[in-house]
Amino acid sequence: AVPKLLAQLEEEDEVDDGSGKIRITIFFGTQTGTAEGFAKALAEEIKARYEKAAVKIADMDDYVMEVDEYEEKLKKESLAFFMMATYGDGEPTDNSARFCKWFTEGKDERGTWLQQLTYGVFGLGNRQYEHFNKIGKLVDRELSEQGAKRLVALGLGDDDQSIEDDFVAWKESLWPELDQLLRDEDDVNTVSTPYKAAIPEYRVVIHDSTVTSYNDNNLNVADGNAVFDMHHPCRVNVAVQRELHKPESDRSCIHLEFDIAGTGIIYETGDHVGVFAENCDETVEEAGRLLGQDLDLLFSLHTDKEDGTLLGSSLPPPFPGPCTLRFALAHYADLLNPPRKAALVALASHSLEPSEADRLTFLSSPQGKDEYSKWVVGSHRSLLEVMAEFPSAKPPLGVFFAAVAPHLQPRYYSISSSPRFSPERVHVTCALVYGPTPTGRIHKGVCSTWMKNAIPLEKCHDCSWAPIFIRTSNFKLPADNSIPIIMVGPGTGLAPFRGFLQERLALKEGGVKLGPALLFFGCRNRRMDFIFEDELKNFVEQGALSELIVAFSREGSEKEYVQHKIMDKAADLWNLISQGGYLYVCGDAKGMARDVHRTLHTIVQQQENVDSSKAEAIVKKLQMDGRYLRDVW
Ligand code: 2AM
Repeated sequence: AVPKLLAQLEEEDEVDDGSGKIRITIFFGTQTGTAEGFAKALAEEIKARYEKAAVKIADMDDYVMEVDEYEEKLKKESLAFFMMATYGDGEPTDNSARFCKWFTEGKDERGTWLQQLTYGVFGLGNRQYEHFNKIGKLVDRELSEQGAKRLVALGLGDDDQSIEDDFVAWKESLWPELDQLLRDEDDVNTVSTPYKAAIPEYRVVIHDSTVTSYNDNNLNVADGNAVFDMHHPCRVNVAVQRELHKPESDRSCIHLEFDIAGTGIIYETGDHVGVFAENCDETVEEAGRLLGQDLDLLFSLHTDKEDGTLLGSSLPPPFPGPCTLRFALAHYADLLNPPRKAALVALASHSLEPSEADRLTFLSSPQGKDEYSKWVVGSHRSLLEVMAEFPSAKPPLGVFFAAVAPHLQPRYYSISSSPRFSPERVHVTCALVYGPTPTGRIHKGVCSTWMKNAIPLEKCHDCSWAPIFIRTSNFKLPADNSIPIIMVGPGTGLAPFRGFLQERLALKEGGVKLGPALLFFGCRNRRMDFIFEDELKNFVEQGALSELIVAFSREGSEKEYVQHKIMDKAADLWNLISQGGYLYVCGDAKGMARDVHRTLHTIVQQQENVDSSKAEAIVKKLQMDGRYLRDVW
């Protein structure tokens, strides 16, 4: 940690030493690391292009300790860029939520207070989702409305295509503007020499087998920590694991219980659990083969050079070591997603075969955009599949972990239990991701495959375990239990509602009077995937659920979906909502939740006898009031 600290101090000094440098801050709101990577890349490129620039990168959250410090600190910024990812249902990332809330909510009192600031925003989103780049758009608009001067038009990165190309295009529009601000007319160094990003690389140390390695028993977990979060997960055992689909089903859905007794983990009904899964043996072995490395190799990664100086600041933080290559590939490397263009550049630079290097370089170039879209993204080619097509590209481990394989991300699940019912267990309902891709590969989702194969403590003492942490959500039951609720959750969208119903049952048993509750569930066929059928019927019998309405999509000749059942009950439903009721939707964002949203809009129009735009305003109001809540993915 010492060299890093020194580097930071040097950078601060640079800013304040009166050397005529211009201070630039690059903020990032990141969930999986892409926006952070872009912030680092932008910083490197600005530094390379402009001698005058003193660039700092800032995590939106770490920038201040307390939210009321944003105002004072931002007033001191004169030039800033914002790399803002949109996450989930048009939400800010965890590390930018606090800022976004503060920035929008308090704006009226502040007026146009940001006039000293010049800025640019690049948003990271996905066009497949309804709220494409909502946060990038919001930050760009608010900065302008609160007085800041827009240097360059908002960039809208679309991860459904090639977000890296969108980023390059946005930067191309930025340079002429920055030239005006940062380039001295007579400074020859800044005359546009083409910039080529260096390929990041860790220093690798190989250890002999006498060194103690990080192994399954001491993965980087924070047991005993006061709070668990993504950076400090807690190691927990799998207590229970079972299949929820009936034998007739050709798909799989897993019920899993993590044992949190004695860990200090607490959760609330409706929260999410983040799970760090492992790649399966087959995937790890394939990766070892493609890298031409022995999986038992014991190694560690370092961000400093042999002489103690630092490698480029664009490096992601290394994982703890020494560990075996097998362990590193299983826990830290994202091997099954399509590679980014930056990974192809790194592979190209280590291809021994010139024709392979050429093809990789083409795929990663702006000219190769369509081919990249088709051959990599469109065909869902995984990193391993791409590496298999370029066998001469065997990057050294320092390059592989820094530039080729992104860090394996935790997967989030809506918790399907209530702590009132199950204080020592976190339940998960997980559909197995398994199926052929356009190239004929069978894609197996990393975490769902791990859950499918997990061995529970109830079956074996040497059971499966994983590092987990809780992410709080605002998907909560009304504080007043007499308020009516309507839940819509087909498939694994049922998960949080199982928690809601457990909670209601516990409340009822405690003598609390409950308002009506309707559940719309959907599945293909009652003999295959009607998950938790008995439990749901029991909730009805016990009075925790007033009515269970199920849409079977593949029983009759016509598809029946939850929204059809909702439409059938339009009057009842609207009546409950008009009495102050809450509407909850959980599940697939791109299909189901979008269709249910449209249905709700139609119902409002019909029941209230209003036009489309008035109906939209009513739905919006429900959302603003927190009475129409969505937990969608
Ligand atoms: P299908 O697979 O027969 O199309 C849970 O996955 C249930 O949600 C299944 O019955 C599935 O039906 C259904 N489903 C698929 N797309 C949907 C959509 N756009 N709206 C509502 N339900 C949908």
